[in-house]
Amino acid sequence: MSVYQKEYQLAQTAPQDFWQQQAQKLPWYQFPQTILSKDENGIERWFADGELNTCYLALDQHVEAGRGDQTALIYDSPVTGTKVQYSYQVLRDQVAKTAGMLAELGVVKGDRVVIYMPMIPEAAMAMLACARIGAIHSVVFGGFAPNELAVRIEDAEPKLVLTASCGIEVNKVIPYKPLVDLAIMDSRWKPEHVVVFQRNACRAELTEERDRDWQMLKQKADMYPCVPVKATDPLYILYTSGTTGKPKGVVRDNGGHAVAMKYSMETVYAVDPGDVFWAASDVGWVVGHSYIVYGPLIHGCTTVMFEGKPVKTPDPAAFWRVCNDYGVKVLFSAPTTFRAIKKEDPEGAMLVDYPMPKLKAIYMAGERLDPPTLEWVQEKTQRPVIDHWWQTETGWAIAGNPVGLESFAIKPGSATIPIPGYGVVVLDETGEEKQANQQGYIAIKRPLPPGCLPTVWRNHDRFQSGYLSQFPGYYVSGDGGYLDDEGYLFVMGRIDDVINVAGHRLSTGEMEEVVGGHEAVAECAVIGIHDDLKGQLPLGLVVLKDGYYSENGAIEKELLQKVRSEIGAVACFNRALVVDRLPKTRSGKILRRVIRQIADGEQYVVPSTIDDPSSLSEIEKVIN
Ligand code: COA
Ligand code: AMP
Repeated sequence: MSVYQKEYQLAQTAPQDFWQQQAQKLPWYQFPQTILSKDENGIERWFADGELNTCYLALDQHVEAGRGDQTALIYDSPVTGTKVQYSYQVLRDQVAKTAGMLAELGVVKGDRVVIYMPMIPEAAMAMLACARIGAIHSVVFGGFAPNELAVRIEDAEPKLVLTASCGIEVNKVIPYKPLVDLAIMDSRWKPEHVVVFQRNACRAELTEERDRDWQMLKQKADMYPCVPVKATDPLYILYTSGTTGKPKGVVRDNGGHAVAMKYSMETVYAVDPGDVFWAASDVGWVVGHSYIVYGPLIHGCTTVMFEGKPVKTPDPAAFWRVCNDYGVKVLFSAPTTFRAIKKEDPEGAMLVDYPMPKLKAIYMAGERLDPPTLEWVQEKTQRPVIDHWWQTETGWAIAGNPVGLESFAIKPGSATIPIPGYGVVVLDETGEEKQANQQGYIAIKRPLPPGCLPTVWRNHDRFQSGYLSQFPGYYVSGDGGYLDDEGYLFVMGRIDDVINVAGHRLSTGEMEEVVGGHEAVAECAVIGIHDDLKGQLPLGLVVLKDGYYSENGAIEKELLQKVRSEIGAVACFNRALVVDRLPKTRSGKILRRVIRQIADGEQYVVPSTIDDPSSLSEIEKVIN
């Protein structure tokens, strides 16, 4: 048996022994006696009676071990022309003061804190400060509109909202404070305070009684110690798109998460303490939580926070420069990133100036890694490109190339093999396992390994019905795909209404709710269609109510603006078309799959259940 096979089998057959061994690699305040148990909902929980503090693991343990002078975080911001490095000692002290600031404002263990911030070190400090106190953070991506922020504030009921005066997108300054004000106005839940980090590019006016100035408060704050929490206490809630308009609050607990982070840094990324690890994402996404903040710091690496884009800040060499200048060992981003670089520098000419001596491998996730992108990056950088598949719900890779154990040959189009801890299977509609090479629902046998969500915030029924009920004994991922006869996993795409736009997960169902809310719209369908750069883009097809007419595309423009202001620019809802009717089955179901196939120029079979086949040729005419 190979090293991987042995480890995979052990994790499947003796999960308690396996994860107990992994847990021993961390300094707990109280090591768990119970490794795996069930909670009141019948959900498997890891390390229930263990006590620890995630901020202690990320910072203090390294300082106490004499590694306080090592760089913990590198902030590189081409949009502001700033480069700063924080040692573990300095970062620990900054975080302790930030925690002191939160405590002064009354935040205690279990309270929620919403963080709506750009990619600046204070965003990471805020997350770690919450972890230090035992408060539960919920970071909201800066590209989301006030309405999205409001929905999250209403669901999480935070004591505070932490924000910055602005974000900077290439050369566009986006004031955040007015967005936060609008969100709070719309939300039924009102936080006690909004704490604003003032940036030079645009200062916010703090007019409301509830508003506070971050820098002033922090200056006066005392350093706050780490508060022990139970392994099963939540560390954070991260909202992600589902099939309905309401996002799901994925809950991550402290203990399982810490163990999974440590294990994945060793097994999936094969880095050592002291190595420089760069996840080029945003703290608003799960990649940012796991691999900008928690994973690298818990493992004692140096992490990079980059406030810029792969292109235009200032050029497509930005990523190579960062890898070169800071000695990055592992780079992790979404395939879109590299398609954007390839578009502007197809020959990879800019790589010549940046030998990147320490770069060992490039990891990708967030969307399907298309073989041409894989091949281009591999050829131009001469580094292995490793695809790995995971989700907000799991927090770490379900399938990948476990190079920390042994390296597997790469098959283009495959995320390689299941990572130890994940019993990955492909099921048919009845829950029977499919044979090799046959597509079906990708599911994971319970128990899920440490780190995966135990519930949806204050909506356990949604966890049960959305993930666990369809196939008893399994977690259903929402992705379809197959295992080949060598056990390689091919993830082919979502089987629900979730789409991936530039590695960002969005719900077409939610966009339909927004579009359908326009007074002129009788019905609509939003589908994800192929895009060479962003992987997928939403396309809206709308049928207008009798008596409405879209003069010079005026209604279409209003719809684009409506989605932009209610969901955010990040939705990239840039195309809406008025049609006379939508193709449907006789029972009234919109034929979304066929519409997508038409839009993508694929061959399609006219379903036998179609109500009126001529509706398809109309759609063909409008789309093309
Ligand atoms: N705050 C405010 N607005 C934001 C934002 C943020 N944090 N992030 C994105 N936006 C806005 C952009 O300004 C843009 O607005 P516009 O339509 O007014 O121009 C819109 O949302 C779409 O942004 P984006 O998807 O970033 O598109 P882009 O054309 O500006 O850049 C790429 C294209 C490929 C360079 C970019 O999508 C990218 O870097 N992708 C990688 C994504 C990634 O790292 N994903 C993480 C998963 S691991
Ligand atoms: P998110 O929760 O935002 O990380 O999005 C998770 C979804 O992104 C998954 O359910 C997949 O649909 C998709 N995804 C992530 N990584 C990959 C990958 N390596 N290959 C294919 N799809 C992926």
